[in-house]
Amino acid sequence: MAIPTPLPLHGKHIVLGLSGGVACYKAADFARELVKAGATVQVVMTEAATQFITSVTMQALSNRPVYTSQWDAREPNHMPHINLTREADAIVVAPASADFIAQLAQGRAGELLALLCLARPIERCPLLVAPAMNREMWSHPATQRNVAQIRADGATVLGPAAGDQACGETGDGRMLEADELRDELVAFFQPKLLAGRSVLVTAGPTFEAIDPVRGITNHSSGKMGFAIARAAAEAGARVTLVAGPVHLPTPRGVRRIDVQSAAQMLAAVLPEAPLHGIFVATAAVADWRPANATDAKIKKDGSGRVPALALTENADILATVARLPAGQRPWCVGFAAESHDLARHARDKLQRKGVPLVVGNLGPATFGRDDNTLLLVDANGERELPTGDKLSLARLLVAEIAARSP
Ligand code: CTP
Repeated sequence: MAIPTPLPLHGKHIVLGLSGGVACYKAADFARELVKAGATVQVVMTEAATQFITSVTMQALSNRPVYTSQWDAREPNHMPHINLTREADAIVVAPASADFIAQLAQGRAGELLALLCLARPIERCPLLVAPAMNREMWSHPATQRNVAQIRADGATVLGPAAGDQACGETGDGRMLEADELRDELVAFFQPKLLAGRSVLVTAGPTFEAIDPVRGITNHSSGKMGFAIARAAAEAGARVTLVAGPVHLPTPRGVRRIDVQSAAQMLAAVLPEAPLHGIFVATAAVADWRPANATDAKIKKDGSGRVPALALTENADILATVARLPAGQRPWCVGFAAESHDLARHARDKLQRKGVPLVVGNLGPATFGRDDNTLLLVDANGERELPTGDKLSLARLLVAEIAARSP
């Protein structure tokens, strides 16, 4: 049975606040991203924000009239600061200027946006703030003091990033991009099932060199492993991702170690394994590598003879980690990529590798694809997760891991 993939912000009502800053141009894109992700968006702008972008643009993108004043006569009770916050699932202020953050830190309510941040029901309407300012303003002790204060008061601060700034300088203070802000918000709403836990993930293929220009690899795209790393980070875990050669962006908040060969993957995993509580081995590690990789490119000698390629076996990374002594051994999850007899092979791997959970999938059918079907095999039996996109499945799997692992 296929699980429908709901839009990631389906059913969420977001108050999007804009304070004054050049990054208001990104807020237009962010409003679009929120709507595309299924949210309803109510834009509230400060007077300064209207100097950078018009309310007409923001209204067109959000499909709702924009609020700019607490004296807005459209509200029958004349209380937009109450009405707008009571139906909101979150307030996101993007961009948040240095002055606006100072207002929040002091609990000021001189304009509608600051007023509604103060008037929101603090327990059920979270406040997320995306700072955007010049690097000197960001690093100023007053701003840092104010940011620490709003964090202490429960706000979530998104970014800022480092990079080129509109003023021509380079440094911290750039607002996150629209898609990054959307992903942060999606992650914010995920249940924190792995809060305080740590997860090590291997992903992708490995590349076993024959000579400097050739090698043996496989069709694994790494998508499932990257989705698991992302889902674990969204669930609140500290995540390290050891990735073979793939062209995938690093999920936000995930620490990534890039490797090429199985030997490098093992060398990266071994020191990390005792530092993590959970190990998820999704990598399609090459079982064999050329026994005598050469430093120089192998050339045709004109005789028509084909070079003999001797292979030697790679270490089994998962089995090695699963055999670490108690106290150093994370709770291990293996993957079984099979072409047939999935349940039988997965159960065989459960025993052979000595791990508490094996997740089976039909490899050739899923390599490179965005959706997948997973079969969970453990000592108690088997359970199929419904077919879905890899991120939805990864979230289901993270919930299973959270429930099973000590
Ligand atoms: N694995 C590993 N190191 C290896 C081989 C596999 O860590 N050298 C892990 C994979 O990441 C996966 C699990 O072991 O979690 C099973 O991988 P798979 O390739 O399906 O199984 P193999 O042990 O290689 O067995 P076979 O190729 O015979 O199916």
